[in-house]
Amino acid sequence: MKNIIESPFVVDMMRMTANMYRMGWDERNGGNISMMLDEQEVKEYLDIDSSIRAIPMGFEAKPLIGKIFIVTGTGKYFKNVEFDPENNLGIIRIAPDGVTANLLWGYSDGGRPTSELPAHLMSHMSRLAVNPENRVIMHSHPTNTLAMTYVHELDEKKFTHSLWEMCTECIVVFPDGIGVLPWMVCGTNEIGIATAEKMKEFRLVIWGQHGIYGCGKDLDEAFGLIETVEKAAQLYLMTANMPRVNTIHDNELVELAKAFKLNYRRDFLYLD
Ligand code: 13P
Ligand code: ZN
Repeated sequence: MKNIIESPFVVDMMRMTANMYRMGWDERNGGNISMMLDEQEVKEYLDIDSSIRAIPMGFEAKPLIGKIFIVTGTGKYFKNVEFDPENNLGIIRIAPDGVTANLLWGYSDGGRPTSELPAHLMSHMSRLAVNPENRVIMHSHPTNTLAMTYVHELDEKKFTHSLWEMCTECIVVFPDGIGVLPWMVCGTNEIGIATAEKMKEFRLVIWGQHGIYGCGKDLDEAFGLIETVEKAAQLYLMTANMPRVNTIHDNELVELAKAFKLNYRRDFLYLD
């Protein structure tokens, strides 16, 4: 067996969590990531049929039975992952009953997957149904995005529109817009169900006064979506108390959509 600490998936998680911590988005244990792994690849490092312990999940994930995920641990700090991956990360395989996760590696101090596992696994199910290539669900607390949820109406059309106006690239990066949920108690099945419902339609979901979810075929894609929203939110806040002299107008967003051949939420523009 090869050394799992040198596997591309553990190394990528170490680099991504360190980067997100340094962005200032993941204070303390804030944020969590799950990434679905390829069974054949994992077999080079682990016996995928041998479980260290069984972890009850408290919800059903039948479509994911047998699937393997690397997941950040609950209460673990992103800043520490790169120095002690075996304690701060875990690799789980969804058991045949669909309600238990078998721990294959990690959480070495007896830990568990993130408290947001319902939102992660339910969102994986939603995304895989629309895009079989999806592998990553990422949750974070980016500062400006979070701040914007305090001063901007939590309305999907209005929130998306305000972000699209802030950078030319926004509509190109997330033409499908951004789903928005009101503040809810985190770490519950309820917020998981609500997030996964939005994930059927959107690759980005805001949690009011909490943070954001993004997804993608790899870590870079999920990160890139969140990073683009965060940049736009920063520009929104920097200019929020100044007279708006210039903006990107809706007819210009339509031109962009044509130029980049975007399948976009035209109903999120204010056209006559
Ligand atoms: P965990 O430490 O359980 O991953 O929770 C962090 C978080 O961001 C909750 O929303
Ligand atoms: Zn959170």
